[in-house]
Amino acid sequence: MPLTLTRDVLLKERTTLRLGGPALAEAVVSCEAGLDELARVLPGLGGRPLALGAGSNLLAADPPHALVLVRAANNAPAQIFKQQDGTTLVRAGAGLRLPRLVGFCQRAGLTGLEGLTGVPGRIGGSVAMNAGSYGVELGARLSRVRIWTPETGLTWREARDCSFGYRHFDPRMGASFWLIWEAEFILLADKPFAIRKRMEENYARKKATQPVTAKSAGCVFKNPQGLPAGMGAGRLLDEAGCKGKRLGGMAFSTVHANFLVNEGGGTAAEALELLEHGRAMVFDRFSLNLETEVVVLT
Ligand code: EPU
Repeated sequence: MPLTLTRDVLLKERTTLRLGGPALAEAVVSCEAGLDELARVLPGLGGRPLALGAGSNLLAADPPHALVLVRAANNAPAQIFKQQDGTTLVRAGAGLRLPRLVGFCQRAGLTGLEGLTGVPGRIGGSVAMNAGSYGVELGARLSRVRIWTPETGLTWREARDCSFGYRHFDPRMGASFWLIWEAEFILLADKPFAIRKRMEENYARKKATQPVTAKSAGCVFKNPQGLPAGMGAGRLLDEAGCKGKRLGGMAFSTVHANFLVNEGGGTAAEALELLEHGRAMVFDRFSLNLETEVVVLT
């Protein structure tokens, strides 16, 4: 089936935080022909389209959402596309999980992505959020990206024509809705065992400092810019007394204060209240306004 439509899909079943009420519909597109079909049916579905990957950076409120979740189920495996001037281009479908791409590159002896070891998410969402970890932002490794809009269909966009920021990507196409379909990354050669070693070190560090197996959406607040190294949102929340703070089934993690975790049966109302509490505590203590990093759907 090029396009599968399902009505009344619960966001709590589509997000790693396990929170969120129903969306009007979900459209899962599994091949390019499905995109043409999507363009035909979208206007009739009556909701705003929202591109959704693994849902690992989303906090969705409990009431119903007038949204059509659009998922690019292009799970084309990573493959070497071209080698030139000592660099290698690797192409991957938007639906592929980022850890699969990172693993592929390691086995192929291609360095550049190992900082992203342990970052969940699919390729589409990871590019769309410019996922970053341990000094690597995915955007810095992007060569080009193939994007679909209802108006233009599929087109390749060179990375140099897009804009990238801290957990921010914009293909600068002037479109109200765009969906990443596939992406190409530019990588350098290195020894597989050296890449493996760096991946292991990064994962060990992440596991020791972040609640990697908890139901969370990663860091909820952006690190304020311009502060001394180490003074990130996690440290500020921690020093303001938020670490381990609970409300119902939700809590600021005891491992890393900038992770909101669902300890079981949490609600989005509790999550949003805790976020405001954390923001207020940091403001009272440091006169700093934390900005959310997680995408909040209210
Ligand atoms: N810290 C505390 N208490 C805490 C948490 C952290 O004092 O509860 C201190 C740490 O001891 C360390 C400093 O804060 O000195 C920085 O902590 P960490 O190395 O964990 O990094 P971070 O700045 O909190 C950022 C990203 C993470 C990314 C890591 C590693 C943001 C908001 N967070 O965290 O990204 O994994 O660096 O590169 O940019 C995400 O995007 O969802 C995310 C988790």
